[in-house]
Amino acid sequence: MVMMLMKATAIANSNIALVKYWGKRNSDLILPYNSSVSMTLNNLNTKTTVEFNKTLSEYEVTINRKVAKGEELARVANHLELLQNSSPHKIFAKVRSESNFPKKAGLASSASGFAALTLAGTKALGQDLTVKNLSILARRGSGSASRSILGGFVEWTKGSLPDGLDSHALQIKKEAHWPELSMIVTIISTEEKKVSSRAGMSQTVKNSPFYSAWLDTIESDVEKMKQAISEKDFIQLGKIAELNAIKMHATMQTTTPPFIYWEAGSLSIMKEVLKLREEGIECYFTMDAGPQVKILCQQKDIETIKSRVTEINLVKDIIICHPGKEARLTEDHLF
Ligand code: DP6
Repeated sequence: MVMMLMKATAIANSNIALVKYWGKRNSDLILPYNSSVSMTLNNLNTKTTVEFNKTLSEYEVTINRKVAKGEELARVANHLELLQNSSPHKIFAKVRSESNFPKKAGLASSASGFAALTLAGTKALGQDLTVKNLSILARRGSGSASRSILGGFVEWTKGSLPDGLDSHALQIKKEAHWPELSMIVTIISTEEKKVSSRAGMSQTVKNSPFYSAWLDTIESDVEKMKQAISEKDFIQLGKIAELNAIKMHATMQTTTPPFIYWEAGSLSIMKEVLKLREEGIECYFTMDAGPQVKILCQQKDIETIKSRVTEINLVKDIIICHPGKEARLTEDHLF
């Protein structure tokens, strides 16, 4: 008898939110309080190979060449169990995952990681899911992963159903709509963050007095952002993205106890961006759950901004990104 090989490999790009997801209305199903909008990035990605194997007696997971243990292993194992929910016999799997950027440093490694795991895992199980169903499943691994299933410019609609079946990503525009839109990712520190985005957003929902103010303005930010993307209005996109990021950070800085992802280098870059704007160079910053600053700019200004940012000696590395494509399968397995 020929044994069917239950193995597949997927590559998913990371995404950076232009209007952020921050706060869950249901932590088990990962359902957000607000919709969000992101850009999938071409140069930050995760490749993952999953092989279900009946001879295994446990999950064997390697992430960036290190054997996963504890909570990290549990998150991957739980996700693989979820993908197998519809099948009568649970099978363990071997997983190897590699990202071309540091994980847990505010560069959305869980987004590309769980998007790649979902696509590779379902394919290895012989399932061919729709983009919508892949996005719903990826969301259960990490909320932002729902958006990395799609390329270009993406909205994650918060939905309203208790089971979350209407909470998934939709493409606003393909990457080819605005290929010259640029994001300069500046690396300030590659140390793993002390407060995960998961713990951070939970604490914020619980006790930031600003959280309701965040929710008051978010749907309007989403609508304005979608319009800016459709019209390729760079200034509008930059203004909304920057203010939205500052608003999100204000909510976490006002929790008890407060937490601040910004490092000295982050602040230096934010100020440099404001200075560049005063000099007539249109650029805007956004930041996530980590110290890295991502600068939104137009293709023509990349070199000027890059050389100014390089002068700040707290910057360790710079990665230039443009809109990237959707999660996809490859035959080039990692093992
Ligand atoms: C600041 O998707 O990492 O990057 O759903 O708990 O896994 P979990 O959180 P995660 O949070 C991302 C938060 C953010 C904003 C965003 O990507 O929208």
